[in-house]
Amino acid sequence: MKRPIAQLVGTGRYTPEKIFDNAYFETILDTSDEWIRERSGIRERRIAEEHETLAYMGAAACRQVLDEAGLTPLDVDGIVLGTASPDRLLPSTACDLQAELGAHNAAAFDVAAACSGFLYSLSVAEGMIASGTAENVLVVGGDRLSKIADYTDRTTAVLFGDGAGATLVQPAGNGKRGILSTYLKTDGRLAELLYRPGGGANHPPDEQMLQDRTYFIRMAGREVFKNAVRSMADACDRALEKAGVHGDEVDVLIPHQANIRIIEATAKHAHVPMDKVYVNVDRYGNTSAASIPIALDECVREGRIKEGSLVLFVAFGGGFTWASVLVRW
Ligand code: UT7
Repeated sequence: MKRPIAQLVGTGRYTPEKIFDNAYFETILDTSDEWIRERSGIRERRIAEEHETLAYMGAAACRQVLDEAGLTPLDVDGIVLGTASPDRLLPSTACDLQAELGAHNAAAFDVAAACSGFLYSLSVAEGMIASGTAENVLVVGGDRLSKIADYTDRTTAVLFGDGAGATLVQPAGNGKRGILSTYLKTDGRLAELLYRPGGGANHPPDEQMLQDRTYFIRMAGREVFKNAVRSMADACDRALEKAGVHGDEVDVLIPHQANIRIIEATAKHAHVPMDKVYVNVDRYGNTSAASIPIALDECVREGRIKEGSLVLFVAFGGGFTWASVLVRW
């Protein structure tokens, strides 16, 4: 097993107070609490108010990490933000987050890998540490999907929520703690199964875009589901194989929280029993890049992850992108 180059130090999260429960969607769409719970496992999701921008939520999560690590924003030399719902298209939301946090010494940029964004960002941060480019890198996963969800489309609107989570990545030192293995994979041929057709440079905003609602997320749910199950299972195998670890050694599995049925299928394949799998999709819905760092922060605060715990993260999202990271906490 390779000696870790980078370790995760501390966690933080920000989730809005406002809640949309399934009953709310019954009032605006032809859907039911029963359908949503049975097909996805979701009961409610958090929805950002106007002032709760992605930069605001991300900065709040980062502040918590820094305060607990005894660092100031000026100690940070890198900010990597995984997101699919930037506050604006230029500059990256990481720049706005940097300003909001007052981390003026940090190089800051976004990583666009949809729901896999946090794990892709972790890998980028590990690379920055390995190359000596940075020593205190905030890795943030955040999304504000309520702003790009189509609230007239019952096949997508009910699934998504808002939030942000963060961790600090530092050199691993000589100990065993840190990132043991990473696996990243992409298949761009399947991009249009989960995407936003309009709003970018290919289709700048116009009247037609508003009429056709191409600004919003479109998803072929069943196809995404099948690919997610297959790819997340494969990603678990790869990260474990690379580190020479068997699934039954994993203390906590933190999968991307999109659907309880995908989570259960992934855990079964990886030979991780459900009592070692962290699930909060019922409370937050699918928060895309935020789902893993929010879950990680909850696990740490609940004492489910302790020093020495072996933690496996796995994600799947638009692109398609998928990823897994194995960490000794
Ligand atoms: O985060 C990135 C990755 N994203 C995901 O992993 C999401 C993956 N996909 C899923 O989680 C599931 O596919 C969904 C939860 C989105 C849908 O569940 P499903 O079991 O795949 O349902 P379906 O799309 O096959 O739809 C079954 C039926 C359809 O009606 P018909 O054609 O059988 O008459 C849909 O129109 O359910 C209908 N339906 C709904 N009914 C009530 C779809 N959405 C709703 C709804 N309420 N909200």
